[in-house]
Amino acid sequence: MPETLTLTRPDDWHLHLRDGPALATSVRATAEVFGRAIVMPNLGPPVTTVEQALAYRGRILEALPDGSDFEPLMTLYLTDRTSREEVQRAAACEHVLAFKYYPAGATTNSESGVTGLENVYSVLEVMEEKGLPLLVHGEVTDPAVDVFDREKAFIDRMLSGLVERFSSLRLVFEHITTADAVQFVMGAREGVAATLTPQHLLMNRNDLFVGGLQPHNYCLPVLKRGAHQEALRRAATGGNPRFFLGTDSAPHARGAKESACGCAGCFSSPAALPLYAQCFEELQALDRLEAFASHFGPDFYGIDRNTSTLTLRRETWMVSDELEFHSGEKIVPYWAGRQLSWQVA
Ligand code: DOR
Ligand code: ZN
Repeated sequence: MPETLTLTRPDDWHLHLRDGPALATSVRATAEVFGRAIVMPNLGPPVTTVEQALAYRGRILEALPDGSDFEPLMTLYLTDRTSREEVQRAAACEHVLAFKYYPAGATTNSESGVTGLENVYSVLEVMEEKGLPLLVHGEVTDPAVDVFDREKAFIDRMLSGLVERFSSLRLVFEHITTADAVQFVMGAREGVAATLTPQHLLMNRNDLFVGGLQPHNYCLPVLKRGAHQEALRRAATGGNPRFFLGTDSAPHARGAKESACGCAGCFSSPAALPLYAQCFEELQALDRLEAFASHFGPDFYGIDRNTSTLTLRRETWMVSDELEFHSGEKIVPYWAGRQLSWQVA
C-alpha cells in the first residue's frame, strides 16, 4: 500500500466562495490545495455581467493569503434577460470561462434564474458559436415532481432536448446525483461532461436521517438512494474523462444550517481532496484520482493542466467539529468529527 500519493495540483470545477466577510474563510480553504476553481455566480444579487465578474474576481484575489497563486475562474449567471452582447463580452474575457444555468427557484439564490429554456435560446446560440460552456444545475422546479426525481425529470424534459438542439454547445451537468445522469452523460454526444461532489460519492439519502436529522449533509440536489451513489462512485473512478472533480463546496454559517429552515450546502473545501481519496481508495482506484482531480477538468475546458504538484500522505485524522467562519459565526465543515485516511502533506 502506498504511503504517499503525488498528483498534478488539482482544480475545483464547481465552487461557491460567497462574498464580503465570508470570502476569506472560503477562499483560503480552497487555495491551500487547489490551483484554480470555477467560481459560482449565485451571490445576492447574482453576478450577471463581465464587469461584475471582474470586480468579484478582484475581491477574491484580495482575500487570498500573501504569496498564493490560486486563480479564480469566473462564471456569469444566466437570466431571462442576458443579452447576446454580454455573451460576446464574456467570450472575449480571459477570466470568464462559462455561464451558469439555474432553473429559477431550484436552489440557493436562484430566484433570478431562467424561467423557461426558450427565453435563452438566442444567447445559447452565441455560447455555442463561441465555445463558451454552459454549466447546468439539473433539476426541474415543478412542485408536482418528487424532490428525489427532479434530476431525472430534468434530463427527460429539458436536457436531452437542449443537448440535441444546440448540437455543439459545450455543457457540464453539475453535481450529478443519479444513475440516470451517469447514463445520460456516458451516452451523450461529444462536449458533454459532469462534475461529482464528495458528498454524493460518500453518502446516500440515509445519511440525512439516520441517528436524527443531519442538516450538515443537506445539499441540492439532495442525496439519493444507495444504488445511485454506487453508480456515481463507478463513474468517478472509472477513468472516463467526462467525469471530473467539482466539490460544490457551499459554506453556510452553523446557525443557518441548524435552523427550522436549514440552508442547502456542504462546506467540503477544508477536507475536499482527502474526501475524494477516501472514495477512490475504497474502490481500489487511487491510481485514477489524479486524472479525475487534475487532468480531465482542464482538458474539458481547453486550458493547460497545472504544472506544480501536491502530495497526499496516508494519515488517519479527524475533520474539525467546527471552524471560525466570520464575524464571530462558526461553520461546521462537511464530514465534521469523522475520520479520513489521507491528508494533504
Ligand atoms: O447545496 C447547494 N448549495 N446547492 C446549490 O445548488 C447551491 C449551493 C449554495 O449556494 O449554497
Ligand atoms: Zn453549486
